[in-house]
Amino acid sequence: MTHAVNRYRAIPAAVLAVVLTAVLTAVLTLAPTPASAATDVPTTALSRGWVFDARDGAALYVAACQGCHMADGRGAQGAGRYPALLGNPRLVAAPYVVRMVLHGNRAMPALGRMMDDAQVAAVATFVQRRWGGLDVPAITPAEVAAQRQP
Ligand code: HEC
Repeated sequence: MTHAVNRYRAIPAAVLAVVLTAVLTAVLTLAPTPASAATDVPTTALSRGWVFDARDGAALYVAACQGCHMADGRGAQGAGRYPALLGNPRLVAAPYVVRMVLHGNRAMPALGRMMDDAQVAAVATFVQRRWGGLDVPAITPAEVAAQRQP
């Protein structure tokens, strides 16, 4: 009788040992994978924030402005009011366009942290020429840098 009981206990113990060994092996084999994957994540991405990739003014307009000012530059009116850039007489003032892109105003978001000086210059020049219809010289990155402080 005692023998029979011991044998029943012995079987689960053996099974448990096998299962434990399998689990431990799995953990030890798998453990290095997530650890090394974690070290591959560039930690600088956390502090750099989100930035636009495009360098070209037209491409930056599509990525950063078109959602509100529309593909035809006519803006939109609905849930919000997005002014038309097409034919907008204010575009003649380069510093004004640069300031809007860098610092925004009311419902216009400040995009200065998401673009470097050359990108702001490129998209502002694009807006002046394309929507303002203006034959203006390209805005320089130095002009943008000078307006970084509001
Ligand atoms: C989230 C929507 C939104 C995005 C994105 C946006 N704008 Fe605007 N923009 C606005 C709104 C709203 C105004 C009006 C702000 C105000 O009331 O002063 C405005 C105003 C402007 C003005 C001034 C127009 C005027 O008549 O005074 C310029 C210039 C301008 N935006 C350029 C741009 C450019 C260039 C980009 C992309 C780099 C851009 N905007 C991205 C919403 C947006």
